[in-house]
Amino acid sequence: MTQDPLVIFTPSGKRGRVPAGTPVLTAARQLGVDLDSVCGGRGICSKCQVAPSFGDFPKHGVTVAETALSPWNEVEARYDRVRGLKQGRRLGCQAQIRGDVVIDVPPESQVHRQVVRKAASAKPITMDPATRLLMVEVEEPDMHEPSGDFERLRAALKDQWGIEAVTAGLPVLRKLQPALRKGEWKVSVALYQPVHTEEFRILDIWSGLHEGGLFGLAIDLGSTTIAAHLTDLTDGRVLASAGVMNPQIRFGEDLMSRVSYAMMNPGGDVEMTRAVREAIDRLAVEIAAEGGVDPGLIVEVVFVMNPVMHHLLLGIDPVELGQAPFALATSSAMTLDARDLDLTSLNPQAQTYILPCIAGHVGADAAGVALAEEPDKSEDLVLVVDVGTNAEILLGNRERVLACSSPTGPAFEGAQISSGQRAAPGAIERVEIDPATKEPRFRVIGSDLWSDDPGFAEATKATGITGICGSGIIEAVAEMRMAGLLDPSGLIGSAEQTGTARCEPTGRTHAYLLHDGTAEGGPRITVTQGDIRAIQLAKSALYAGARLLMDQLGVDRVDRVVLAGAFGAHISPKHAMVLGMIPDAPLAKVTSAGNAAGHGARIALCNRAARARIEETVRRIHKVETAVEPRFQEHFVAANAIPHASDPFPDLASVVTLPDVHFGASGGGGEGRRRRRG
Ligand code: FES
Repeated sequence: MTQDPLVIFTPSGKRGRVPAGTPVLTAARQLGVDLDSVCGGRGICSKCQVAPSFGDFPKHGVTVAETALSPWNEVEARYDRVRGLKQGRRLGCQAQIRGDVVIDVPPESQVHRQVVRKAASAKPITMDPATRLLMVEVEEPDMHEPSGDFERLRAALKDQWGIEAVTAGLPVLRKLQPALRKGEWKVSVALYQPVHTEEFRILDIWSGLHEGGLFGLAIDLGSTTIAAHLTDLTDGRVLASAGVMNPQIRFGEDLMSRVSYAMMNPGGDVEMTRAVREAIDRLAVEIAAEGGVDPGLIVEVVFVMNPVMHHLLLGIDPVELGQAPFALATSSAMTLDARDLDLTSLNPQAQTYILPCIAGHVGADAAGVALAEEPDKSEDLVLVVDVGTNAEILLGNRERVLACSSPTGPAFEGAQISSGQRAAPGAIERVEIDPATKEPRFRVIGSDLWSDDPGFAEATKATGITGICGSGIIEAVAEMRMAGLLDPSGLIGSAEQTGTARCEPTGRTHAYLLHDGTAEGGPRITVTQGDIRAIQLAKSALYAGARLLMDQLGVDRVDRVVLAGAFGAHISPKHAMVLGMIPDAPLAKVTSAGNAAGHGARIALCNRAARARIEETVRRIHKVETAVEPRFQEHFVAANAIPHASDPFPDLASVVTLPDVHFGASGGGGEGRRRRRG
């Protein structure tokens, strides 16, 4: 008796024998191979494309003859004529296995394909979204066996896809009958499965094969900015990213001032809720336009945010978060209709998933960071710092993870800085100051040239040089310290003390002139004493939070540091350490992770299982409340110096020698001492 043909799938390596004549798609399903299909094998969607290989495969112990698969059939020929099929590709639902064969499943044909993230250190996301597109063929109604169209659609989903427990809301039921008839009883459905349930919900329905795609938004709702990524739910691609200022800023710059606004003004919380919901809805429309997508095809939104933003988005008065014991209305993850959040521009049935909060002031944004950076899986002790108006700080390893949130204020985002601005073309993002001449050079967003490179003026003509963004101010302050223009207490020296006329008097203090654009009608960009103070406050809060977690864990050092945040990827580790934003560590062990909270939102958007995983992880993260820890204040005061009043920075000292300058308490340009070490 001849044996059934052997089929070997790559890259999975799954193999097995199937009866001759079995379609590749069927064989893949039987062997548990990840091969996509939307049309259920009808030869319409082309999601099932495979690439067979022929010849000798000693590694697999097979020889594949040209006749191992059935010849092209009419369906494939038609598809090739109309859409074009890549050389060497077959439709898995049409090609039948006739002999031993090796079949490659290309990444775009895998349901659970991996999406590689931009940050080099980041792990890829495995696609397994909560919403999938499926096509079914529904039986026509029969007067003699009466049943509703929806009931027959359900039966079709069960027969053709093995999917049971399906429900649909009224907007879908309204579209059902015309869709079925127009599609000649073939319809596509967007099928959503909430986390932790066996149930499915139809979010939308289209006649025939829906080719418009399905999309989701991953939103990092910050106190200062709202950042959104428009993501293709079939392949995880980010089609557009956009950020807008959080309009709640007009009610208060930071979280506590917004809580106070709600406390002092009856209905203030409602106003803030309305403002942020409108902004998100507008942002959704804008980002959809940018990505060339109909906003009605956005079927899911995932949010990460701090607890005050969380409550205000949900329409819950945040007053309890303004006082100990900082009780959250709920810390659980939530699944809601987007309509309940007034996100009316999206698909009418769009679903939102809100990551769980950790506790108190440690919110869903910290959960997002934990999901993206996985400190709970780290072998070594890692400190993850997500820098924003409120810093989320996580410290731990696979044994234990602690988390806190620290009110850094918006200085790191360029706010409250005299020449500060958002990271946008024209903003200074990198700074270097020559320690001998005290002359600066810088780079602005939008050009790769340094300001002393030939062609810089031409390259920046369109944008101008407009201000300093967060990473720029961090570098500027650190460079000033390294060049001896700034003493450890944070005082800027006078022209006489520093030997440069760029240190100009401004009242009782001094400012360092970074760029004078007045000749070209641009601004004079300086770093003032007030800017230094704002940065000192912000960095002290950050460092104190990290130290507090280190105390709790009983350690004096960490093995590595991950700098995250909307501009985390742009912060130079050396400058962050000179400033004393982060504890001392070998510079090679300080890495940037980009917007980790936002990445966490993207992971949860693209992978349903990640939602369950982060809910479980969050239960094991221990929260430390900075607001009531007396040691936080002590750490905060000690961290005011640059880099620090008492903590040693031996790793930093091995690469950077900081000038031992002191400009006196008055800072008035008189009797400053100036010494240089080494
Ligand atoms: Fe749709 Fe093959 S499964 S074309």
